Amino acid sequence: MAGIYIHIPFCRRKCYYCDFYKTTNTGLTENFLAALGHEIIRRNDYLQGEKIKTIYFGGGTPSVLTGEQLSLIMENIYANFQVESGAEITLEANPDDLEPEYLQTLKNCGINRLSIGIQSFHDEHLIKMNRRHTAAQAVECVENAFEAGFSELSIDLIYGLPGLSAGQWIENLHQAFRLPVNHLSAYHLTYHEGTPFYTWLKKGTLKELSEKKSIEQFNILLDESAKAGFEQYEISNFARNEKYSRHNSSYWQGEKYLGLGPSAHSFNGSSRRWNVAHTEAYIKGAEKNISYFEEEQLSEKEKYNEYILTRIRTKWGISLHEIEIRFGEACAENASGILRKYVAAKHLIEKNGIYTFTRQGFFISDTIISDFMII
Ligand SMILES: C[S@@+](CC[C@H](N)C(=O)[O-])C[C@H]1O[C@@H](n2cnc3c(N)ncnc32)[C@H](O)[C@@H]1O
Ligand code: SF4
Repeated sequence: MAGIYIHIPFCRRKCYYCDFYKTTNTGLTENFLAALGHEIIRRNDYLQGEKIKTIYFGGGTPSVLTGEQLSLIMENIYANFQVESGAEITLEANPDDLEPEYLQTLKNCGINRLSIGIQSFHDEHLIKMNRRHTAAQAVECVENAFEAGFSELSIDLIYGLPGLSAGQWIENLHQAFRLPVNHLSAYHLTYHEGTPFYTWLKKGTLKELSEKKSIEQFNILLDESAKAGFEQYEISNFARNEKYSRHNSSYWQGEKYLGLGPSAHSFNGSSRRWNVAHTEAYIKGAEKNISYFEEEQLSEKEKYNEYILTRIRTKWGISLHEIEIRFGEACAENASGILRKYVAAKHLIEKNGIYTFTRQGFFISDTIISDFMII
């Protein structure tokens, strides 16, 4: 079983915090789609005939594409891969693109899950982030999506924003849980080099939230989501009724995936590969019938590091037994001492041989993970 990720690199405008690969040059759309069409065909053997159980349109902003453009991509994928019936097909969307008519079009294209980037239900924060939509539009588009028949709905929120108070964060979560969504991704703001937020932070014109307030907001997130019946199944991901993102869960469980489009990553079990993060270069590559990408073969050590990195933040956790079987005695020995140390410190908890983070552990998850890494 495997997944396909398709990176749509266009955004109508850039949010001040975001460092995902994107361009506002939507004039490249037709050439990009032609190049994507080539890549789908050129790489149709990458997953060695494995059945596709998830397809994910990410970005950038996939909802800038028309129904016709999305249908053509889907047809091409179905012609070149064995897509399982009942596959999860997700599209990331911005609220202001989700007009009722467009929602119907998405349904007709076969999209059965939407991940909507809302970020905040407060206009003052949406403006600060340079989002295109208002809080009212955010609420309305989720209701419209549900009415259009989308029962698999996820929304994204960001906390730890400068000026976001605990009260406002609680309001954001309460608003989210009043909506007909069964999945929430809530990310703490990261300041990425090269983004306006990062520049303003360095200049001192934007003030980072204190660590104390950040921790308070993470605690609020865990408490409020639990009260609303949402299970935390990954550090930033919460689901009602086990409606986990099947696509993202398969990354965390080390399954194979093919990434198409500029900057997209692929994994085939033994190597990782990432496409050039440049739309014009991606288009040029297709015209010359070559792919611009980099690739790395993973050593046993690197596979072990990947396993820790992807699994430990999830509810499926890591298992010493599995480490020994999959990566050998040396890795198991490395892991066992570190596991003991963090269990004693109550940062990790063990249940039936599976180790997961405690709430305190989540706060220092990066430090703990780097402790496990074998260089
Ligand atoms: C590929 S992006 C966005 C999808 C879509 N274009 C949108 O903006 O609605 C996926 C999510 O990552 C999160 N994200 C992006 N940059 C972030 C940052 N610097 N810190 C925290 N979360 C971030 C946002 O919640 C965003 O919705
Ligand atoms: S958050 Fe979404 S819309 Fe905003 S710049 Fe990033 S990819 Fe584009």
